[in-house]
Amino acid sequence: MKVLAIVAGRHNGNSEILAKEALLACQEAGAECKLINLFDYHIEMCTGCECCTMQMGEVMQGKGTYKGCVLKEKDDMDKIINEVQSSDGLIIAVPSYDLAPSALYLRYAHRALAYEVSFRLAIGELKNDPHLVGGLIAVGGSCHDWQSLSLEVLGASLFTQSIQCVDQMMATRNGRPGNVLLRDEQLERAHKMGENIAKAIQTPVEARTWLGDEDFGVCPRCHSSLIYPGEPHWDGIEFPFECAVCGSGGDLERTKDGKYRFVLAPNGLIRDRNNNEARAEHLKEIIATRMEFMKQQDIVKEKYKKYKELQFPSI
Ligand SMILES: Cc1cc2nc3c(=O)[nH]c(=O)nc-3n(C[C@H](O)[C@H](O)[C@H](O)COP(=O)(O)O)c2cc1C
Repeated sequence: MKVLAIVAGRHNGNSEILAKEALLACQEAGAECKLINLFDYHIEMCTGCECCTMQMGEVMQGKGTYKGCVLKEKDDMDKIINEVQSSDGLIIAVPSYDLAPSALYLRYAHRALAYEVSFRLAIGELKNDPHLVGGLIAVGGSCHDWQSLSLEVLGASLFTQSIQCVDQMMATRNGRPGNVLLRDEQLERAHKMGENIAKAIQTPVEARTWLGDEDFGVCPRCHSSLIYPGEPHWDGIEFPFECAVCGSGGDLERTKDGKYRFVLAPNGLIRDRNNNEARAEHLKEIIATRMEFMKQQDIVKEKYKKYKELQFPSI
């Protein structure tokens, strides 16, 4: 049983302390534990070149071999992802900056697209599905109101690695490094997360389930707190409300005690981003968008001229 903690906060900071506390519980349960702080690694920013997804499209059509990210030889990302994909459990502890996970974590997360687990499995680059389980820790100086996108964005970063999130916690009101040492309940909750990760790893894949706090979040599928009014998808699918993270669809209902509940539609999981097949539907959308663009190159070329020639002073 191997558990890796990824931290994107200051050295000896609050995120690192909580990640260590969670790992302690994993270690007590017999896991081999490692911790990496992303500040110690060189991670180039995704340039948006789309070489990875273009190659994926071609390889899936039987053309060429997958060479991976063009930045592969330039930084530590390959090393980190291979460590992730050879682990059984992952604990991600990240500070909230401007309501959301810090840019350092996002830099790592965006580069993970080139290592899509379902794709690597399909082409045999990965021999076995790692069936990773994950726990998310968002850490901020404030309460939920100032960390309103943190766990949601962290949750969204798990899809490319097909990681099943079994627990989440938000550590609130921790400003200076070490502040969390005054919050025993948060340290205990992080320890519990470690226990939950170890428990999930030792549970057969098909029986694994949410082990976090029962009433955590609003979405019954991924436990995010962000449910928004749905709009038509590219193929006309539409739900009254959708989960902003996993894409589950349904409606909001008021319970007798006056609270709101997100109730999944009978077909509410057809766009569930936790599901490899549902994510493959999104790949169809990407391919359709690309084909529509490729077919109309004469129009694009003509209209491009104006914007390529148009220049404004820079600074
Ligand atoms: C640029 C910046 C933006 C921040 N924005 C938020 C925020 O929106 N919400 C919040 O709760 N805390 C915010 N914080 C506070 C950090 O999340 C907090 O200090 C946290 O404990 C840092 O974690 P660390 O000790 O692991 O580095 C911000 C800090 C910085 C440096």
